[in-house]
Amino acid sequence: MGRKVGIIGCGNVGSATAFSLVNQQAIEELVLVDCLKEKAEGDALDLQDATVTASGFTNVYAGGLVDIKDADVIIISVAGPRPQKGETRLDELKATAPIIMEVVTTLKELGFSGCYVVATNPCDVITYHVWSLSGLPRERVIGTGTLLDSSRLRRVVANELKVKPHDVHAYMLGEHGDSQFALWSHSTIFGQKLEDYYQHEQSILDKEKIEKEVIKLGFEIYWLKGNTEFGIGNAIAQLTKAIVSNERAVFPVSTILQGEYGLHDVAISIPSVIGKGGIEKRIPLHLSLEEHRKLEYSANIIQTAISEIRS
Ligand code: 2OP
Repeated sequence: MGRKVGIIGCGNVGSATAFSLVNQQAIEELVLVDCLKEKAEGDALDLQDATVTASGFTNVYAGGLVDIKDADVIIISVAGPRPQKGETRLDELKATAPIIMEVVTTLKELGFSGCYVVATNPCDVITYHVWSLSGLPRERVIGTGTLLDSSRLRRVVANELKVKPHDVHAYMLGEHGDSQFALWSHSTIFGQKLEDYYQHEQSILDKEKIEKEVIKLGFEIYWLKGNTEFGIGNAIAQLTKAIVSNERAVFPVSTILQGEYGLHDVAISIPSVIGKGGIEKRIPLHLSLEEHRKLEYSANIIQTAISEIRS
C-alpha cells in the first residue's frame, strides 16, 4: 500500500500534525491544502527543511483537493472559531459544517476512496457529517474522538502514581466534549485494576476529581495559549500511521455505530482496531451500568447536534 496523505487545514493542528508525520517518517508523500494558499506553501517549504534533519524522507508539497483525490488518508483539521468562555466544542458546528460539506462533496466527485481522519470540532458530529457526505463505508471515516482525552487521562494518572504514562491503560470514551467519561471498569496498570493499584500505593482513586480534570484540560490549554496543537497533532499522526502501516492498533476513536453498544446513527468514541481498511473492528466491551448510561448520554448530545446540521 502507498503512503500518501493529505491534510486539509493548515492551522495550528494541521501544521503540528504535518510536523509529527515528517518526524515519525510514517509516510512517503504529504500534501498540504489550505484556503490560504500561502500558508500551505510556507508550511511545505518549512517542512521540507525539517525533512533534512529527520531521519527519513517525506515528499512534502502544497496542493489543492485534486492533488489528494488518490491519497490513502485525508486528515481534516479545518479550524473553527475559537470558543468563547462558557461555550463548548459544539458551538463551533455552525462555522465548520458548511466548509466540511464543500470539501467532502468535492472529494466525492473527484472519486476519493481512501480513509478520512477527522479532527475538526465538534469532532463526533463532524465525523458523522463527513461519513454521510462521503459515500464511503463507515469503516473509512474515523474521528480522533477521545484518543487525545485518553492521553490526558493516562498522563494525569501516571503523574499521581509516578509511573510512565505508556504503562497506564486508561481510556476516556463517549463524546470528545464535556460529556466524555473515564472507562474505570477497564483501567489497569499491568493488568491490575487502577483502584487496586492505588490501594497498594496507600492512596485512594478519586475518580470524580480525575475525570473532571481531564475533561477540562483541553480548554485549560485553550485559555492559556489560544489553541491546542501538539497533543492532537501526535494523536492524528499516530492514527494515520496505524492506517497506512496496517498496524491493527487499538485506540479509542470516534466511529459510526449502527447497533453496536445499542446505539444507532451516531459517531462516538469506543475502542476500535485500526488498520489499512480504517476501522477493522469495533471492540464490544462489557461496560458497567453507569458507564453505559454515560455513553448513551453522550450519544444523545451528539445526535441532537447531528440533527441540527440535517435540518
Ligand atoms: C482539544 O481537546 C480543544 O478539542 C481540542 O485539545
